[in-house]
Amino acid sequence: MLPSLESDIKKVTFAQIKQLLGEKQGVVIAHYYVHPDIQDLADETGGYVGDSLGMARFGSHHASPLLIVAGVKFMGETAKILSPHKTVLVPTLAADCSLDFSCPEEEFRQFCRKHSARTVVVYANTSAKIKALADWVVTSSNALAIVSYLHRRGESILWASDRYLGSYIQRETGADMLLWPGSCIVHDRFRAQGIMQLKNLYPAAAVLVHPESPMEVIELADVVGSTSQLIAAASDMPNELFIVATERGVLHKMQQISPGKQFIIAPTGGSAVCKSCAKCPWMAMNTLQGIENSLMIGREEILLSDRIIERAFIPLERMLKFCE
Ligand code: 13P
Ligand code: SF4
Repeated sequence: MLPSLESDIKKVTFAQIKQLLGEKQGVVIAHYYVHPDIQDLADETGGYVGDSLGMARFGSHHASPLLIVAGVKFMGETAKILSPHKTVLVPTLAADCSLDFSCPEEEFRQFCRKHSARTVVVYANTSAKIKALADWVVTSSNALAIVSYLHRRGESILWASDRYLGSYIQRETGADMLLWPGSCIVHDRFRAQGIMQLKNLYPAAAVLVHPESPMEVIELADVVGSTSQLIAAASDMPNELFIVATERGVLHKMQQISPGKQFIIAPTGGSAVCKSCAKCPWMAMNTLQGIENSLMIGREEILLSDRIIERAFIPLERMLKFCE
Protein backbone atom coordinates (compact mmCIF):
# COMPACT_ATOMS: atom_id res chain seq x y z
CA MET A 1 0.00 0.00 0.00
CA LEU A 2 1.24 3.53 -0.81
CA PRO A 3 1.94 5.71 2.24
CA SER A 4 -0.59 8.57 2.54
CA LEU A 5 0.30 12.22 2.03
CA GLU A 6 -0.70 12.81 5.64
CA SER A 7 1.78 10.26 6.99
CA ASP A 8 4.52 11.64 4.71
CA ILE A 9 3.91 15.16 6.07
CA LYS A 10 3.95 13.79 9.61
CA LYS A 11 7.30 12.03 8.99
CA VAL A 12 8.89 15.19 7.57
CA THR A 13 7.54 17.35 10.42
CA PHE A 14 8.77 14.84 13.03
CA ALA A 15 12.24 14.86 11.44
CA GLN A 16 12.35 18.69 11.42
CA ILE A 17 11.20 18.92 15.04
CA LYS A 18 13.68 16.22 16.12
CA GLN A 19 16.50 18.20 14.53
CA LEU A 20 15.39 21.44 16.23
CA LEU A 21 15.07 19.67 19.58
CA GLY A 22 18.64 18.40 19.17
CA GLU A 23 20.02 21.82 18.19
CA LYS A 24 18.24 23.65 21.03
CA GLN A 25 18.53 20.85 23.61
CA GLY A 26 14.77 20.90 24.04
CA VAL A 27 12.39 18.25 25.33
CA VAL A 28 8.64 17.88 24.67
CA ILE A 29 6.32 17.34 27.64
CA ALA A 30 2.80 16.48 26.52
CA HIS A 31 -0.54 15.82 28.20
CA TYR A 32 -2.68 12.79 27.28
CA TYR A 33 -5.36 15.11 25.87
CA VAL A 34 -3.26 16.54 23.04
CA HIS A 35 -3.36 15.15 19.50
CA PRO A 36 -1.97 11.57 19.20
CA ASP A 37 0.77 12.81 16.83
CA ILE A 38 2.12 15.12 19.55
CA GLN A 39 1.99 12.30 22.10
CA ASP A 40 3.95 10.09 19.66
CA LEU A 41 6.45 12.88 19.07
CA ALA A 42 7.08 13.23 22.81
CA ASP A 43 7.48 9.45 23.17
CA GLU A 44 9.81 9.14 20.17
CA THR A 45 12.08 12.04 21.13
CA GLY A 46 12.81 11.10 24.75
CA GLY A 47 10.15 13.47 26.08
CA TYR A 48 7.18 12.66 28.24
CA VAL A 49 3.45 12.02 27.90
CA GLY A 50 1.42 11.97 31.09
CA ASP A 51 -1.01 13.58 33.48
CA SER A 52 -0.49 16.98 35.04
CA LEU A 53 1.40 15.58 38.04
CA GLY A 54 3.73 13.50 35.86
CA MET A 55 4.36 16.50 33.59
CA ALA A 56 5.31 18.65 36.58
CA ARG A 57 7.67 16.00 37.92
CA PHE A 58 9.31 15.28 34.57
CA GLY A 59 9.93 18.96 33.81
CA SER A 60 11.51 19.61 37.18
CA HIS A 61 13.84 16.58 36.99
CA HIS A 62 14.88 16.70 33.34
CA ALA A 63 18.28 18.22 32.57
CA SER A 64 17.20 20.03 29.40
CA PRO A 65 17.34 23.86 29.58
CA LEU A 66 14.35 24.14 27.20
CA LEU A 67 10.94 22.62 27.97
CA ILE A 68 8.24 22.58 25.28
CA VAL A 69 4.96 22.03 27.11
CA ALA A 70 2.10 20.75 24.94
CA GLY A 71 -1.01 21.05 27.06
CA VAL A 72 -2.65 24.13 28.52
CA LYS A 73 -1.19 27.30 30.00
CA PHE A 74 -1.26 26.26 33.65
CA MET A 75 0.91 23.24 32.78
CA GLY A 76 3.53 25.54 31.24
CA GLU A 77 3.33 27.84 34.27
CA THR A 78 3.83 24.91 36.65
CA ALA A 79 6.92 23.85 34.69
CA LYS A 80 8.29 27.42 34.93
CA ILE A 81 7.58 27.74 38.67
CA LEU A 82 9.38 24.46 39.36
CA SER A 83 12.32 25.29 37.03
CA PRO A 84 12.61 29.10 36.88
CA HIS A 85 16.09 28.94 35.30
CA LYS A 86 14.75 26.96 32.28
CA THR A 87 13.05 28.40 29.20
CA VAL A 88 9.48 27.11 28.97
CA LEU A 89 7.76 27.41 25.58
CA VAL A 90 4.17 26.55 24.68
CA PRO A 91 2.76 26.32 21.14
CA THR A 92 0.19 28.98 22.08
CA LEU A 93 -0.54 30.99 25.22
CA ALA A 94 -4.20 31.04 24.13
CA ALA A 95 -4.53 27.40 25.25
CA ASP A 96 -6.15 28.01 28.63
CA CYS A 97 -8.60 26.07 30.80
CA SER A 98 -12.13 26.83 32.01
CA LEU A 99 -11.05 26.05 35.57
CA ASP A 100 -8.50 28.81 35.32
CA PHE A 101 -11.10 31.28 33.93
CA SER A 102 -13.49 30.24 36.73
CA CYS A 103 -11.14 31.55 39.38
CA PRO A 104 -10.17 35.24 38.96
CA GLU A 105 -7.33 36.39 41.22
CA GLU A 106 -8.95 39.32 43.02
CA GLU A 107 -12.22 37.52 43.85
CA PHE A 108 -10.29 34.50 45.05
CA ARG A 109 -8.03 36.67 47.22
CA GLN A 110 -11.14 38.16 48.89
CA PHE A 111 -12.59 34.68 49.39
CA CYS A 112 -9.35 33.56 51.10
CA ARG A 113 -9.33 36.68 53.31
CA LYS A 114 -12.92 36.09 54.35
CA HIS A 115 -12.08 32.50 55.40
CA SER A 116 -8.56 33.03 56.66
CA ALA A 117 -8.74 30.22 59.25
CA ARG A 118 -8.96 27.62 56.47
CA THR A 119 -6.09 25.86 54.71
CA VAL A 120 -6.13 26.94 51.05
CA VAL A 121 -5.92 23.93 48.71
CA VAL A 122 -5.97 24.71 44.98
CA TYR A 123 -6.22 22.39 42.03
CA ALA A 124 -3.27 22.44 39.61
CA ASN A 125 -5.70 23.68 36.91
CA THR A 126 -5.39 27.29 38.10
CA SER A 127 -3.16 30.21 37.20
CA ALA A 128 0.22 30.83 38.83
CA LYS A 129 -1.33 33.83 40.62
CA ILE A 130 -3.93 31.60 42.28
CA LYS A 131 -1.25 29.07 43.25
CA ALA A 132 0.66 31.95 44.84
CA LEU A 133 -2.27 32.39 47.26
CA ALA A 134 -2.38 28.71 48.25
CA ASP A 135 -1.02 26.54 51.05
CA TRP A 136 -1.19 23.41 48.90
CA VAL A 137 -1.50 22.60 45.21
CA VAL A 138 -3.02 19.22 44.30
CA THR A 139 -3.78 17.32 41.10
CA SER A 140 -6.47 14.73 40.49
CA SER A 141 -3.82 12.04 41.24
CA ASN A 142 -3.12 13.15 44.77
CA ALA A 143 -6.00 15.42 45.91
CA LEU A 144 -7.67 12.63 47.86
CA ALA A 145 -4.48 11.65 49.73
CA ILE A 146 -3.52 15.25 50.52
CA VAL A 147 -6.97 16.32 51.74
CA SER A 148 -7.25 13.11 53.85
CA TYR A 149 -3.93 14.01 55.46
CA LEU A 150 -5.04 17.60 56.18
CA HIS A 151 -8.39 16.36 57.52
CA ARG A 152 -6.61 13.93 59.88
CA ARG A 153 -4.62 16.92 61.16
CA GLY A 154 -7.90 18.65 61.97
CA GLU A 155 -7.59 21.34 59.27
CA SER A 156 -10.65 22.78 57.56
CA ILE A 157 -10.21 23.51 53.88
CA LEU A 158 -10.93 26.23 51.36
CA TRP A 159 -10.96 24.49 47.98
CA ALA A 160 -10.65 25.81 44.41
CA SER A 161 -11.37 25.54 41.64
CA ASP A 162 -13.23 22.41 40.45
CA ARG A 163 -16.43 21.99 42.43
CA TYR A 164 -17.07 18.40 41.31
CA LEU A 165 -13.62 17.19 42.28
CA GLY A 166 -14.05 19.15 45.53
CA SER A 167 -17.39 17.54 46.39
CA TYR A 168 -16.08 14.08 45.48
CA ILE A 169 -13.14 14.55 47.88
CA GLN A 170 -15.42 15.98 50.54
CA ARG A 171 -17.64 12.89 50.27
CA GLU A 172 -14.71 10.44 50.35
CA THR A 173 -12.82 12.07 53.24
CA GLY A 174 -15.55 13.72 55.32
CA ALA A 175 -13.32 16.83 55.44
CA ASP A 176 -14.80 20.27 56.14
CA MET A 177 -14.41 21.90 52.71
CA LEU A 178 -15.66 25.22 51.41
CA LEU A 179 -15.89 24.92 47.62
CA TRP A 180 -15.19 27.51 44.94
CA PRO A 181 -17.78 27.07 42.15
CA GLY A 182 -15.51 26.35 39.13
CA SER A 183 -16.00 23.60 36.55
CA CYS A 184 -14.46 22.03 33.46
CA ILE A 185 -16.53 22.61 30.32
CA VAL A 186 -15.54 19.16 29.01
CA HIS A 187 -16.22 16.92 32.03
CA ASP A 188 -19.25 18.96 33.09
CA ARG A 189 -21.09 17.61 30.05
CA PHE A 190 -20.96 13.89 30.80
CA ARG A 191 -24.43 12.60 31.57
CA ALA A 192 -25.39 9.73 33.90
CA GLN A 193 -28.41 8.81 31.79
CA GLY A 194 -26.34 8.21 28.66
CA ILE A 195 -23.82 6.12 30.59
CA MET A 196 -26.62 4.01 32.10
CA GLN A 197 -28.02 3.39 28.61
CA LEU A 198 -24.59 2.21 27.47
CA LYS A 199 -24.24 0.01 30.55
CA ASN A 200 -27.56 -1.62 29.69
CA LEU A 201 -26.28 -2.33 26.18
CA TYR A 202 -22.86 -3.54 27.39
CA PRO A 203 -23.25 -4.87 30.95
CA ALA A 204 -19.67 -6.24 30.99
CA ALA A 205 -18.15 -2.82 30.35
CA ALA A 206 -16.30 -1.08 33.17
CA VAL A 207 -16.89 2.65 33.69
CA LEU A 208 -13.82 4.87 34.13
CA VAL A 209 -14.47 8.44 35.31
CA HIS A 210 -12.29 11.52 35.81
CA PRO A 211 -13.39 13.27 39.03
CA GLU A 212 -14.02 16.61 37.28
CA SER A 213 -17.31 14.97 36.18
CA PRO A 214 -20.68 15.59 37.88
CA MET A 215 -21.38 13.55 41.04
CA GLU A 216 -24.11 11.40 39.45
CA VAL A 217 -21.55 10.33 36.81
CA ILE A 218 -18.91 9.63 39.46
CA GLU A 219 -21.46 7.44 41.22
CA LEU A 220 -21.61 5.13 38.20
CA ALA A 221 -17.83 4.64 38.09
CA ASP A 222 -15.96 1.41 38.65
CA VAL A 223 -12.80 3.53 38.88
CA VAL A 224 -12.48 7.26 39.60
CA GLY A 225 -9.05 8.73 38.91
CA SER A 226 -6.68 11.06 37.13
CA THR A 227 -5.92 10.44 33.48
CA SER A 228 -2.91 8.22 34.25
CA GLN A 229 -4.85 6.31 36.91
CA LEU A 230 -7.64 5.62 34.38
CA ILE A 231 -5.13 4.46 31.77
CA ALA A 232 -3.54 2.11 34.34
CA ALA A 233 -6.97 0.79 35.37
CA ALA A 234 -7.87 0.03 31.74
CA SER A 235 -4.74 -2.08 31.49
CA ASP A 236 -5.00 -3.77 34.91
CA MET A 237 -8.71 -4.66 34.93
CA PRO A 238 -9.83 -7.92 33.29
CA ASN A 239 -12.71 -6.22 31.38
CA GLU A 240 -12.43 -6.04 27.60
CA LEU A 241 -14.73 -3.05 27.15
CA PHE A 242 -14.60 0.32 28.89
CA ILE A 243 -16.86 3.37 28.97
CA VAL A 244 -14.54 6.32 29.51
CA ALA A 245 -15.71 9.63 30.98
CA THR A 246 -12.82 11.95 30.28
CA GLU A 247 -11.33 13.83 27.33
CA ARG A 248 -11.10 11.60 24.25
CA GLY A 249 -7.34 12.15 23.85
CA VAL A 250 -6.66 9.48 26.52
CA LEU A 251 -7.94 6.78 24.20
CA HIS A 252 -4.68 6.98 22.24
CA LYS A 253 -2.58 5.78 25.21
CA MET A 254 -5.28 3.35 26.37
CA GLN A 255 -5.28 1.69 22.95
CA GLN A 256 -1.46 1.64 22.79
CA ILE A 257 -1.15 0.02 26.22
CA SER A 258 -4.16 -2.31 25.91
CA PRO A 259 -4.44 -3.08 22.17
CA GLY A 260 -6.88 -5.98 22.60
CA LYS A 261 -9.43 -3.90 24.50
CA GLN A 262 -12.21 -1.58 23.36
CA PHE A 263 -13.01 1.90 24.59
CA ILE A 264 -16.14 4.00 24.18
CA ILE A 265 -16.21 7.67 25.16
CA ALA A 266 -19.07 8.34 27.57
CA PRO A 267 -21.97 10.34 26.11
CA THR A 268 -22.17 14.07 26.72
CA GLY A 269 -25.43 15.99 26.69
CA GLY A 270 -26.61 19.33 25.47
CA SER A 271 -24.72 19.68 22.20
CA ALA A 272 -26.35 20.17 18.83
CA VAL A 273 -23.28 18.92 17.00
CA CYS A 274 -22.15 15.73 18.67
CA LYS A 275 -23.34 12.98 20.99
CA SER A 276 -20.03 12.89 22.76
CA CYS A 277 -17.77 15.83 22.16
CA ALA A 278 -15.45 15.16 25.12
CA LYS A 279 -12.88 17.35 23.41
CA CYS A 280 -11.03 20.14 25.18
CA PRO A 281 -10.92 23.11 22.78
CA TRP A 282 -7.76 24.47 24.42
CA MET A 283 -5.83 21.20 24.30
CA ALA A 284 -6.78 21.05 20.61
CA MET A 285 -4.85 24.29 19.98
CA ASN A 286 -1.61 22.30 20.27
CA THR A 287 -0.34 21.22 16.86
CA LEU A 288 2.89 19.79 15.45
CA GLN A 289 3.22 22.98 13.41
CA GLY A 290 2.83 25.05 16.56
CA ILE A 291 5.61 23.08 18.27
CA GLU A 292 7.90 23.51 15.28
CA ASN A 293 7.20 27.28 15.24
CA SER A 294 7.85 27.56 18.98
CA LEU A 295 11.23 25.93 18.52
CA MET A 296 12.13 28.04 15.50
CA ILE A 297 11.15 31.45 16.84
CA GLY A 298 11.42 30.86 20.60
CA ARG A 299 7.77 31.71 21.26
CA GLU A 300 5.43 31.64 23.04
CA GLU A 301 7.37 31.80 26.26
CA ILE A 302 5.95 31.43 29.77
CA LEU A 303 7.12 34.46 31.74
CA LEU A 304 6.25 34.98 35.40
CA SER A 305 7.42 37.53 37.95
CA ASP A 306 9.99 36.43 40.55
CA ARG A 307 7.47 37.17 43.30
CA ILE A 308 4.83 34.84 41.82
CA ILE A 309 7.40 32.12 41.15
CA GLU A 310 8.78 32.28 44.70
CA ARG A 311 5.34 32.22 46.30
CA ALA A 312 3.75 29.59 44.02
CA PHE A 313 6.80 27.32 44.38
CA ILE A 314 5.97 26.74 48.07
CA PRO A 315 2.62 24.88 47.67
CA LEU A 316 3.80 23.10 44.51
CA GLU A 317 6.96 21.79 46.14
CA ARG A 318 4.92 20.77 49.19
CA MET A 319 2.74 18.64 46.89
CA LEU A 320 5.72 17.03 45.14
CA LYS A 321 7.41 16.24 48.48
CA PHE A 322 4.18 14.73 49.82
CA CYS A 323 4.05 12.35 46.84
CA GLU A 324 7.71 11.24 46.95
P1 13P B 1 -4.95 15.19 35.06
O1 13P B 1 -4.36 15.79 36.28
O2 13P B 1 -5.67 13.94 35.32
O3 13P B 1 -3.95 15.12 33.98
O4 13P B 1 -6.10 16.18 34.56
C1 13P B 1 -5.83 17.42 34.04
C2 13P B 1 -6.99 17.94 33.35
O5 13P B 1 -6.93 18.99 32.75
C3 13P B 1 -8.22 17.19 33.40
O6 13P B 1 -9.19 17.80 32.63
FE1 SF4 C 1 -9.27 22.45 31.61
FE2 SF4 C 1 -11.25 20.78 31.23
FE3 SF4 C 1 -9.55 21.27 29.25
FE4 SF4 C 1 -8.79 19.83 31.40
S1 SF4 C 1 -10.31 19.27 29.88
S2 SF4 C 1 -7.64 21.47 30.42
S3 SF4 C 1 -9.93 20.87 33.02
S4 SF4 C 1 -10.98 22.74 30.20
